[in-house]
Amino acid sequence: MDNRPIGVFDSGLGGLTAVRELHRLMPEESIVYFGDTARVPYGGRSREAIIKYARQDIAFLTTFDLKAILIACGTVSSTALQLLQDENDCPIFGVVEPAARAAAEASRNGRIGLIGTEASIRSGAYEHVLATLRPDGTVYAQACPLFVPLVENGRFRPGDPVAELVVAEYLTPLKEAGIDTLVMGCTHYPLLRDVVSDFFGDGVTLIDAGGACAREVADYLAENDLLTGGTDSRRRYFVSDTADSFAKLASTFLGESISDRVEQIDITVY
Ligand code: DGL
Repeated sequence: MDNRPIGVFDSGLGGLTAVRELHRLMPEESIVYFGDTARVPYGGRSREAIIKYARQDIAFLTTFDLKAILIACGTVSSTALQLLQDENDCPIFGVVEPAARAAAEASRNGRIGLIGTEASIRSGAYEHVLATLRPDGTVYAQACPLFVPLVENGRFRPGDPVAELVVAEYLTPLKEAGIDTLVMGCTHYPLLRDVVSDFFGDGVTLIDAGGACAREVADYLAENDLLTGGTDSRRRYFVSDTADSFAKLASTFLGESISDRVEQIDITVY
């Protein structure tokens, strides 16, 4: 039994896809979330910048006494998971392997689409794991740099002409390739799930990287007797820019008002 919270971080809103699944699976667990909203997006940045930001994000989170950290960011997970695990004592989980595993299991025809940020696609991390799990398969990868700004600006709902246009622009080659499974390798992308699934229609399974990782963390805690024994769970949210717009969009996505639980911090001091 372990009453310490789980730490979760991302560049912004995307990591909430993991928070929502963690909370669904383990409502009694406490969570500390950090969204680096002052520096989003990470996906177009250099490896050095991504590592520097991720180290600061973890340094902030570990000011809390945590039992595990979930890197709810495909960009950081694909760029620096091993490095961050080696540098920290706290168990750290990334989204790449759980998402690749879920896709490998879901695909029937072996044609697997992969979308992510430029840094995630450049790293080759998802393809590397998928090649091991589905040596018979083919991965069709596509960077989608405009998806994160769309999500951060709340432009992710069906009927939004800009979101629909950008989704069609990026995903048409994957549709033409006949994929039956799509790894949404950036945790922001599941907020566009309805637009993406309308675009593909039936027959394409969408894999949510943050959700897949949340299930792995839940299994790890259960197997290692680290689930909380408490009943007073708390979910706290920290951001590096003003709290208002994050709180508004996050409340909509999470289906509960979190306005009184979002605090702004200065991440540059960590
Ligand atoms: N949500 C993150 C990811 O999974 C970061 C996106 C970004 O900041 O570019 O890659």
